[in-house]
Amino acid sequence: MAIEEQVRDIEAETAQAIAAAGDEAALEAIRVAELGKKGRVSLLMRELGGMSPQQRQIAGPALNGLKDRLTALITARRSDLETAALNRRLEAEREDMTLPAPREAAGALHPVMQVFEELAAIFADMGFAVAEGPDIEDDFHNFTALNFPPGHPAREMHDTFFMKPGPDGTRKLLRTHTSPIQVRAMLNTPPPLRIIAPGRVYRKDWDATHTPMFHQIEGLVVDQTVHMGHLRSCLTEAFARFFETPAIHARFRPHFFPFTEPSAEMDIRCDRSGGGIRVGEGDDWLEILGCGMVHPNVLRSCGIDPETYQGFAFGLGVDRLAMLKYGMPDLRPYFEADVDWIRHYGFRPWLLPTVTGGLS
Ligand code: DAH
Repeated sequence: MAIEEQVRDIEAETAQAIAAAGDEAALEAIRVAELGKKGRVSLLMRELGGMSPQQRQIAGPALNGLKDRLTALITARRSDLETAALNRRLEAEREDMTLPAPREAAGALHPVMQVFEELAAIFADMGFAVAEGPDIEDDFHNFTALNFPPGHPAREMHDTFFMKPGPDGTRKLLRTHTSPIQVRAMLNTPPPLRIIAPGRVYRKDWDATHTPMFHQIEGLVVDQTVHMGHLRSCLTEAFARFFETPAIHARFRPHFFPFTEPSAEMDIRCDRSGGGIRVGEGDDWLEILGCGMVHPNVLRSCGIDPETYQGFAFGLGVDRLAMLKYGMPDLRPYFEADVDWIRHYGFRPWLLPTVTGGLS
């Protein structure tokens, strides 16, 4: 058969097949059968080498033309198939814009979680990362590494919940504070360190102002030139932001914690006249947290050389802080799962606090 005839036959047959191809896979099969390495057109092109120059002058352009036209047909058909597939999806996934809007979600963020988020946003802006630790701790992380020697009276003050002893005789416990997260952070990450650690803590306490589970945030900075001045300015700035006032007036009273030396409690100036509490002005003081310079024994327990590194730390109770900021008079409803209460005091979960967008 003359080459022109062959070309005409292949073109007619293939064009029909391309037009009939129902999806991309079928189209690809046609492309391979004609233009692929062992395709019909490719095999014909291979014969060019054995032809006389005159034959080749006719067959060459004819086969090249065929190849180009088939390629163009396939490309066009592929684009048609894609458009059709997209149109089918658009049709199927169409939204009915006349339906009523979805009901507002019924849940609300608990004020304690709101305060966690607010403090995380503030401290993240100051370069702190958020660290975590387990609620069930061991004696080493909760006490010993924090410079509570065995038998030290400060252990008794924590009213610890202990688990039953394990096979080795040691008892796990529910962490009594978030300070063990400091220990875990220092053991896991070489300094410099800048973390806050929010979490639940547990103590055997139950009255109008104490619940057996409550919330703390721990803070820790470890570096080579850290001093009390950093602690003071960091916390003063953070709490001015937290209470959303231009400045607060803070005082640091000497105190004792086994894991810090020196230790202090931070009070901020407030005004209690007129029922509520206003922060940043007035003649009264409000105690808000414990803090201090990390004790050298604690650094040593965590494998950090106290000759090279110093740190400051702080720990605060979040439940009371939330009460103060959002004017909740009583701690007990926090854990009663009362829907009316959470509707009144809760926060919209999709309006998370940010430094730029506003905290509350
Ligand atoms: N862990 C202490 C407590 O629960 C609070 C605390 C005080 C944490 C001073 C600290 C700190 O990191 O430096 O009472």
